[in-house]
Amino acid sequence: MRRKVVAGNWKMNMKHAEGLSLAQAVDNFLLGNDLPGVDVILCPPYIHLAHIAGSLRAPNISTGAQNCSDHDAGAYTGEISAGMIKSTGAEYVIIGHSERRSYFNENDELLNTKIKIALKNELRVIFCCGEVLSEREKGKHFEIVKSQIEKALSGISREDLADIIIAYEPVWAIGTGVTASSGQAQEMHSYIRSIIYKLFGKEEAEKALILYGGSCKPSNSAELFSMEDVDGGLIGGASLNEDDFCKIIDSFPGK
Ligand code: PGA
Repeated sequence: MRRKVVAGNWKMNMKHAEGLSLAQAVDNFLLGNDLPGVDVILCPPYIHLAHIAGSLRAPNISTGAQNCSDHDAGAYTGEISAGMIKSTGAEYVIIGHSERRSYFNENDELLNTKIKIALKNELRVIFCCGEVLSEREKGKHFEIVKSQIEKALSGISREDLADIIIAYEPVWAIGTGVTASSGQAQEMHSYIRSIIYKLFGKEEAEKALILYGGSCKPSNSAELFSMEDVDGGLIGGASLNEDDFCKIIDSFPGK
């Protein structure tokens, strides 16, 4: 049985006190509700990480950053290194989000470097992949996702793969209110598992955690999470609202 994961990507939202209070609310929810097998990851802006990480008490909650530098240290004004993120108490970093790819021109090669630097600094990675609408309309979504994963995981060992979560986020579903259907999500997740199988073998493919992201909300999370190859979600907008986020955390079947 794979663990279930719900990660909240706050993006560039939440002032310090607001963020802390949201994190406290989620932490309290987890302390008050027995959800064995479910891990929650809060990914606030960098500047809140240390304070939030230090305030959490539930055993199944942790923090992650939304990005990291591709350098270890040095004269890179405004950048944040993987080592600094780790030193806040964070355990994860999101790499390859479509907003980083499109607004900050992050390409597959850079993302591969960032994954390696994150792992070297003992952070776990949430690696995002997914096609844009025109690619899906042309029937190229499988090809695009395969290429993104192969390039991102180039040079990654089997041992390191255990520290990588893959998030399938069709770009046309991110922040749009349009969600992939559970069938579309399952189809792609099972395809992603087959890519991992080819690259790393059966055992790794069975163990790999694959999250869905893109307008996931309380009204659709239970159905998405009921799919065999959907191991949870990477939640944007709905992670900013404590009730919505906690409902999503609570929507795995069979509990
Ligand atoms: P959304 O964002 O849930 O607001 O669509 C998901 C994401 O970008 O990770």
